[in-house]
Amino acid sequence: MSERPAGHFITLEGGEGTGKSTLAKALARKLEAAGIQAVLTREPGGTPLAEAARHLLLHPPEGEAWSPLSEALLVNAARRDHLEKLIRPALARGDWVICDRFADSTRVYQSIDGGVALNTLLSIEREVLGDTIPSMTLVLDVSLDVARERRAVRAGALDAFERRPDAFHEAVQAAFLAIAKAEPGRCRLIDAGQTAEEVAEASWAHIRSLMDDQGKVLP
Ligand SMILES: Nc1ncnc2c1ncn2[C@@H]1O[C@H](COP(=O)(O)OP(=O)(O)O)[C@@H](O)[C@H]1O
Ligand SMILES: [Mg+2]
Repeated sequence: MSERPAGHFITLEGGEGTGKSTLAKALARKLEAAGIQAVLTREPGGTPLAEAARHLLLHPPEGEAWSPLSEALLVNAARRDHLEKLIRPALARGDWVICDRFADSTRVYQSIDGGVALNTLLSIEREVLGDTIPSMTLVLDVSLDVARERRAVRAGALDAFERRPDAFHEAVQAAFLAIAKAEPGRCRLIDAGQTAEEVAEASWAHIRSLMDDQGKVLP
């Protein structure tokens, strides 16, 4: 039996501007402060090949676009590389992994707007993930108005997804909420309209429950 408790795989999901990246950093800091090795990563991306795929996805050559199925396969190819080279080795070491977006984002973004059938996406997901299913998924829920303001405030050029109209962001948020409702064992819905500190505290309370399960005493 290994001396270290197994690491946990935590994924953060929600629309653009809900605060995922902000929360991911805060949680990684909290885990480190609790003496737990944490790997902070993101999707699409996380490894050199997956980051290259991310660039092709978010910034396709001028005038070019991926078909929905091609796009779904590309993000899944990136995910498989990420799992094989970064996520699984980290979990095997006993580290925790915090991933900014994961498979639920593919279910959402690649199925809406006449995309790929959800059953097809779920079957690809099963094949790609195997046993590596997140211990916990925090789904960030915030009003569309607040998310829009946060996207506007954030520095940098908007990418292909962020530039979509309001109806798209509304469908995205509804799809994430549906996943949270359908999988209450894995997913925790977080009120992301609070301050960043409050969002981190509410999320930390859920994450602590994973540690309590391991019998660890925590700060
Ligand atoms: N709880 C919060 N309250 C206020 N502003 C926030 C909060 N969380 C994030 N932000 C700000 O909103 C913007 C988008 O946050 P970010 O974490 O990048 O969202 P996401 O990764 O979900 O797109 C950033 O400028 C960030 O500083
Ligand atoms: Mg982000």
